[in-house]
Amino acid sequence: RIPTQIYSNSQLASVAVAKEIADLIKTRQQEGRHVVLGLATGSTPIKVYKELIRLHKEEGLSFSNVYSFNLDEYYPMKANSTQSYVHFMKEQLFDHVDIPKENYFIPDGSLKQEDIAEFCKEYDNNIAALGGIDLQLLGIGGNGHIGFNEPGSLQNTKTRLITLDHSTRASAAGDFSGISRVPKKAITMGVSNIMNAHRVILMAWGEGKSRIVREAVEGPISDQVPASYLQQHSNTTFVIDEPCANELT
Ligand code: F6R
Repeated sequence: RIPTQIYSNSQLASVAVAKEIADLIKTRQQEGRHVVLGLATGSTPIKVYKELIRLHKEEGLSFSNVYSFNLDEYYPMKANSTQSYVHFMKEQLFDHVDIPKENYFIPDGSLKQEDIAEFCKEYDNNIAALGGIDLQLLGIGGNGHIGFNEPGSLQNTKTRLITLDHSTRASAAGDFSGISRVPKKAITMGVSNIMNAHRVILMAWGEGKSRIVREAVEGPISDQVPASYLQQHSNTTFVIDEPCANELT
């Protein structure tokens, strides 16, 4: 069973997660070392990023020693499109803190198809060259995906091009004014990239995620619920709000 931390609301939970991230960044600064974060997009981490921005602006938290790798990007997707995860990360975090531009990495949705495999290999090599991911932030899809590792993703998967599930594209329809405009593919870090992180924090808010969170935490480990692989990760916590904890036994 995966350890859970249950907060009365997502604001309190997000402040606690931001504090853990900030503490790690500060500890590494004191040791003169960098830190590697794995970051997620979507609605779930927005309040964490807001709190990190507040800690930067009001409490002097510096991101000068931070490297980050985002989980995923739609394909095809131009970086300057408002729906891109590059745009999301700049708007929600990077443009408001002092992380050096050359320190953050997001899968490139504008590549030619034949260049993707090489790019993905390099993405994984860059993570390894920096010593691996210290702390990986995750959301969870209604179908149990982590990153865009949709049901069926195997445990040894690395960064790669995948086909999005219909349910994932349906969830994104609002951002693209219609499901037909949602890209059919994405580049995502693999399950093994996530499992190799030293620390994993998966966040989920609201009753809508309670069923899939129960399956991930208590159900059988299965490629049909990729988040259930985290039962085999020794330093994972699910940080959830009370409505999301509803169905846990
Ligand atoms: C985003 C990602 C996805 C989302 C998940 C939940 O980078 O990798 O796995 O975390 O789809 O999305 P939200 O937070 O919008 O409910």
